[in-house]
Amino acid sequence: MSYDLYAFDAYGTLFDVHAAVARHADAIGPDAQRLSDLWRAKQLEYTWVRSLAGAYRDFAQVTRDALLFAAARCGGLAPDLIERLLAAYETLDAYADARPALAALRASGAKVAILSNGSPAMLEAAVAAANLGDVLDAVISVDPLRLYKTAPEAYGLAVQRFGVAPARVSFQSSNRWDIAGAARFGFRPVWINRTGQPDEYADLPPAHVLRGLHELPSLDA
Ligand code: LAC
Repeated sequence: MSYDLYAFDAYGTLFDVHAAVARHADAIGPDAQRLSDLWRAKQLEYTWVRSLAGAYRDFAQVTRDALLFAAARCGGLAPDLIERLLAAYETLDAYADARPALAALRASGAKVAILSNGSPAMLEAAVAAANLGDVLDAVISVDPLRLYKTAPEAYGLAVQRFGVAPARVSFQSSNRWDIAGAARFGFRPVWINRTGQPDEYADLPPAHVLRGLHELPSLDA
């Protein structure tokens, strides 16, 4: 393969962040999608604010904080439903194209890893629930840094772990902001634009835009 390492964002790229709310949509009611969208937006906002302010809380904590805010904005949720949503977030569904893509890349001889804001315990649970452990060489959490992506140090964790140059790493993410950070760091950025979002960060472009991970193995074949 053209790259020594294929590194993947986890939430939104391998795992469907909206699967938690989807499992409890009936209990939540008509505001379910709005709740899920706001939950994700606030979760990400908190990672950036806390990284810039030097006020780190781990991804499990900011995920809880974000859900509490989103629930309050959407009229409130019963405490037991809050806990069930957070439990569901620990075992999000993997996208159907995730395992085949990871397995194909590994079979080609490349190293394959997760590089995620997720806390170690969250990622361990998500990988186990989705049965992805045997198609990953490493699961890398930014947590030891107490800094989130797009801090360059976060992307540097993958370079240090595998001893490869940034240009030898293909980084896949569904999050365009994450692709901007990866481009700035020097990875080969591949945007998995699952929902057909308009582009942004024009000065920090992806090398390729795919609609799903199923397109990835043939990209460098
Ligand atoms: C991750 C989230 C931010 O790093 O998508 O997995």
